[in-house]
Amino acid sequence: MKNLKIGILGATGAVGQQMITVLEERNFPVEELRLFASARSAGTKISAFGKEWTVEETDAGRFRGLDLMLGAAENNIAEKYLPLAAEMGVQVVDNSSAFRLDPEIPLVIPEVNPEDVKLSKGLIANPNCATIIALTAVMPLHKAAHIKRMIVSTYQAVSGAGKEGIDELENEVKELAEGKPVQEPRIFQYQIAYNLIPQIGGFNELGYSSEEMKMQNEGRKMLHDEKLLVNCTCVRVPIIRSHSESITLEFDKEITPEEAKELLKNAPGVKLYDEPDEKIYPMPLLTSDQDLVYVGRVRRDLSAPAEIYNKSLTLFCCADQVRKGAATNAVQIAELLFR
Ligand code: A2P
Repeated sequence: MKNLKIGILGATGAVGQQMITVLEERNFPVEELRLFASARSAGTKISAFGKEWTVEETDAGRFRGLDLMLGAAENNIAEKYLPLAAEMGVQVVDNSSAFRLDPEIPLVIPEVNPEDVKLSKGLIANPNCATIIALTAVMPLHKAAHIKRMIVSTYQAVSGAGKEGIDELENEVKELAEGKPVQEPRIFQYQIAYNLIPQIGGFNELGYSSEEMKMQNEGRKMLHDEKLLVNCTCVRVPIIRSHSESITLEFDKEITPEEAKELLKNAPGVKLYDEPDEKIYPMPLLTSDQDLVYVGRVRRDLSAPAEIYNKSLTLFCCADQVRKGAATNAVQIAELLFR
């Protein structure tokens, strides 16, 4: 693999910063790093790969000559700049939701549909964080027994809303500890400290939030199954990092909890962590700042009707959504493309 000239759009944000760390950790062959952000951050110095790099104000004219651009900015910024980068011959991997459902653009989790990178015409989308975690966890089971239906409840960390989400929770906790009134929230709909909020994104006419619909729509695209049935409830919780998810599955074929555990034990990207009697199960504090999706509490769905009981499972999983749910998955896609 030759040394690459790599740009990061949104390099100063939570995901952009994590991308730099992940590139370093995985010894990604970097010849040059170009860090793009808003004019506010231009001139900031960031150390990586034993050198100091200066953040530049984003300007498409500066993208020429890059081999790879990792996108870690909001949709409107991704839409403005990334198609231009792709037109200039830069391979783009973008973490925003702007391009995910475009039929011309592959949406990829390396443990789920690595072959789809071959369909890239210059731009590949990185899926939603909660969707990456859920599908990485259930893919080994899907391969064995084919998932027909998923019922998912998420418990999503504030870092999913970027650096400002973390700041809002930390400030509220501090204000409460000091006995001060909590300031009007700017990032979340309500105070998130000592609370939880069953809304991530806007609601559609059926009462589902945009985050909830991603699980269905992105899940269908990556599993290449338009019939996949998904019912998802997404909840923001006062956790700094690592999303957690409760997932109930109905399969086409029979599968036992023991078979499922054996499959999960040997699956890429997954760590089976399931000894409930020993208090061993996934938790966000345990799974933060590492790259695996922890899976535990694997058991039957007690509510499944008799005829599908043997085709049902329920599990709980957790993973660091800034890493596997965003930065690491994007770098893994780049590895599929360039290694
Ligand atoms: P900046 O730090 O200069 O505002 P997060 O989601 O964690 O808040 O990160 C958002 C990222 O997108 C940051 O790197 C931010 O840079 C960047 N960004 C915000 N606005 C722009 C813009 N107009 N042009 C380019 N990058 C931007």
